[in-house]
Amino acid sequence: MTTGKAIDITDVSKTYRTGSGPVEALRRIDLAVAAGEFVSIVGPSGCGKSTLLNMVAGLKSKSSGTIRIGEEFVNGPFTNVGIVFQRDLLMEWRTVLDNVLLQIEMRNLRKRDYAERAMHLLDRVHLADFAQRYPRELSGGMRQRASICRALIHDAPVMLMDEPFGALDALTRDDIAADLAEICEEAGKTTIFITHSISEAVYLSDRVIVMSGRPGGIMADISINLVRPRRHSLREDPRFGQHVTEIRDLLEADKDSRREVQ
Ligand SMILES: Nc1ncnc2c1ncn2[C@@H]1O[C@H](COP(=O)(O)OP(=O)(O)OP(=O)(O)O)[C@@H](O)[C@H]1O
Ligand SMILES: [Mg+2]
Repeated sequence: MTTGKAIDITDVSKTYRTGSGPVEALRRIDLAVAAGEFVSIVGPSGCGKSTLLNMVAGLKSKSSGTIRIGEEFVNGPFTNVGIVFQRDLLMEWRTVLDNVLLQIEMRNLRKRDYAERAMHLLDRVHLADFAQRYPRELSGGMRQRASICRALIHDAPVMLMDEPFGALDALTRDDIAADLAEICEEAGKTTIFITHSISEAVYLSDRVIVMSGRPGGIMADISINLVRPRRHSLREDPRFGQHVTEIRDLLEADKDSRREVQ
């Protein structure tokens, strides 16, 4: 059966069992992402964003519900995705190029078939001159660019990113976001992107999912119908500012409603 959805999350909940009792992290999440769509998730700390992304990748189990990527149900680690985490997880003893090619080795594919693609990707993120260097010789932003290449090398149709630019300064973030927008548009990847930056979410996305505090639920699903390709100048467009304000107001209102309950 074809669904036309690249990622389909249906009625997914998650409760962690801990020594001090259950922690309800997510309650009844429904989210469908169409092929080629770029969807960001924003929400307060602890609302379950990472939990959700890890469940989509099959790295964490669900308490209930179903998750499908393409036609396949996710019930264990799913290899046909590219993942970028907040910490770059580069291997210090491998060159930048060999870090990018790690995914290829792990899949028992032939490295030499992918070397050209790896160099092309590194070039796209302005790292071609650093291919033979080691991670310690790179800045934080360059390291995260390298991890994006590593997530793209095996050309998985789905990219999952959990605050990949969280540790970077604002200017570096904007630059990498611009590169990422270009790459994802070119490659037509289906992407779920978690960020704490509302403007980054609006800049990159076709849709922004706004989550409420724990137990996390989806509070709003906002379409960002701004022109593509996205450029830095988009930030001056009044509609860009309106989206940012709308999302900030939603998050503030959720925070206030929780304070009243306490
Ligand atoms: N392994 C775990 N065991 C128990 N509770 C957990 C575990 N992992 C996460 N939680 C809890 O689940 C909730 C959601 O955590 P999660 O890391 O998914 O939030 P988040 O939205 O990604 O937060 P942040 O924005 O700070 O990264 C939190 O209350 C957290 O304490
Ligand atoms: Mg998180």
